[in-house]
Amino acid sequence: MNPSFYITTPIYYVNAKPHLGHAYTTIVADVACRFNTMRGKKTFLLTGTDEHGDKVVRAAQKENLSPREYADEISRLFRNLWPELNINVNYFIRTTDQSHIAVVEQILQKIYDAGDIYFSEYEGLYCFGCERFYTERELVDGKCPDHETEPEIIKESNYFFRMSRYQDWLIDHIQRHPDFIRPERYKNEILSFLKEPLEDLCISRPKTRLQWGITLPFDTNYVTYVWFDALLNYVSALGYPDGEPFKMFWPAAQHIVAKDIIKPHGIYWPIMLKAAGIPIYRHLNVHGYWNIDQSKMSKSLGNVVDPIQIKNTYGLDAFRFFLMREMVFGLDSNFNEAALIQRINSDLANDLGNLFSRVVAMIHKYFEGIVPEIDRRIEQESNLGLESEASTMIAEYEKTMESFSFHKALIAIWDFISLMNKYIDVNAPWVLAKSRSTQKKLEVVLYNLLEGLKCISGLIYPIMPDTAATMQRHLGLAPDQPFYHLDRIKTWGTMEPGTRLPKSITLFPRMDSKAFGSYASPKQSEPLAVSAEIKPEISFETFKTIDLRVATVVHAETIPKAKKLLKLEIDMGQRKTIVAGIAASYSPADLIGKQVIVVANLKPAKIMGIESQGMLLAAVDNHECAVTMPDKNVKAGTPLS
Ligand code: MSP
Repeated sequence: MNPSFYITTPIYYVNAKPHLGHAYTTIVADVACRFNTMRGKKTFLLTGTDEHGDKVVRAAQKENLSPREYADEISRLFRNLWPELNINVNYFIRTTDQSHIAVVEQILQKIYDAGDIYFSEYEGLYCFGCERFYTERELVDGKCPDHETEPEIIKESNYFFRMSRYQDWLIDHIQRHPDFIRPERYKNEILSFLKEPLEDLCISRPKTRLQWGITLPFDTNYVTYVWFDALLNYVSALGYPDGEPFKMFWPAAQHIVAKDIIKPHGIYWPIMLKAAGIPIYRHLNVHGYWNIDQSKMSKSLGNVVDPIQIKNTYGLDAFRFFLMREMVFGLDSNFNEAALIQRINSDLANDLGNLFSRVVAMIHKYFEGIVPEIDRRIEQESNLGLESEASTMIAEYEKTMESFSFHKALIAIWDFISLMNKYIDVNAPWVLAKSRSTQKKLEVVLYNLLEGLKCISGLIYPIMPDTAATMQRHLGLAPDQPFYHLDRIKTWGTMEPGTRLPKSITLFPRMDSKAFGSYASPKQSEPLAVSAEIKPEISFETFKTIDLRVATVVHAETIPKAKKLLKLEIDMGQRKTIVAGIAASYSPADLIGKQVIVVANLKPAKIMGIESQGMLLAAVDNHECAVTMPDKNVKAGTPLS
């Protein structure tokens, strides 16, 4: 296994502020880097800004700034965003950096000297938005597919890069390295493009038309085409050709881009490398587009998502989790807050959060917060192991993380979480705790649950680094030795007996789904996920003392001065009055004629001066309630058993 890992994002244009799309790609790079750190590799994450070209000149003009001033301003926004999203960037490159410019000049000269750059007159269809010539067949209804404007015919003398010479070599390279471009659909897209003859690439712009660029070393009347300049950032950032980082990281290079820019990355770039005598990168990882509520994200639609606003509203780890879990890498995905809230409440608060607080709470309840020592024979005899399920899950996680199928890696972890929840239900620690004879089993069950949580805390680290650290602190793992190394995660049974665990905490507060659309706010005062802690056990005999009956609501009315209450007349064989705190969710008309479940033998109590002679059953989740109703009508007064 190569000991180093080098990952890059596209360098972003400085003609607009960073948004969700940029954040996604860069978070993916961070996740991939952290995962490779867990595998013991030395990692390097590169991102930066692409600052030359016409686009930037025009954007700067609009703001009455020079291209340099404008680029400085927007580049700073990108640079400052990454730490906010907990992305560890090793180097932030700007194409206006002197060191980058020097490498571009050097490589241009090298390719020119080798005879792969020639001068020629060209007449063609030019899109000013894309800053490039189009062939007829690339246009859609005679228009640029991106800008939907008709390109102009322009005639100029320019420098051309002899890409055509390398077409067969590139096809062969792609075929011999099946995962060079992944997922496969994008490899096929490139191969199908390469079925047609490849045209040479115009790599210069006359200074009469554009000055904001890198001057060609062999002709000062021209600047370099932005893409030829920009792609070289991937090697200039490492100190090509002699820098130590270049020697160490370049052979392990992987790029991440969205589908919009696969052509420059899948065709121009490998050919440029080949022509310059630089080894070819290892993988091009291509993802799809985030749409917003099913539409393209765009300034004109006013639906551009600001990652900082999402982070501030929902929490960073929840945001990172959502992006990785929701998007199938390679396909388009839809971003909307309702889906984000849904994932926070179900996957994070309910599944992971509840499991975590449940287990830690049981350690406190049954073992005074101390990790128990276990007897392995008991584990085997009683078939209480979880280790083999954990190791199957870790193998799937590793395989899918390696191939950028992040959603699959998360599904594997969440399947394990639900398996652990079942393990609790099946082994019922509260029953084991009742008798001395099952004490040893109880120790094994809870120890294994802690081990499972430890494993999960390590595996979620690339995606949710803060949550991983919080979980590990609460599992008593040494903070100076974070448990992020895959080999350590794979070793089952390393929780130290005798370690005292801090009290359980809420990992993820539930979000109010009603508030979405306006960046819903978490409920500050609400405890974690619904009933993290199950009430103390009762016997069946105790349960039987509660007389539950089906009752028909014959009348309902509001109570003046008590906004939250309704007064109900119910029939359960006999008429009774019940006062219920459900007015926020139900009007009297919603209930009249409906059947409900009531506690028939509850001691009467006076509420707002009215004697309430029972209680109806309802699920209550932070003031929102759902009254329990039988799923078909039965005789009023029928008991429940
Ligand atoms: N400057 C070029 C890249 C040069 S790399 C040598 C460029 N810049 S860009 O600012 O337009 O960034 C494009 C990239 O931003 C996409 O490839 C993708 O990584 C990210 N995204 C922009 N919008 C996106 C979505 N709506 N969804 C997902 N990612 C998107 O192209």
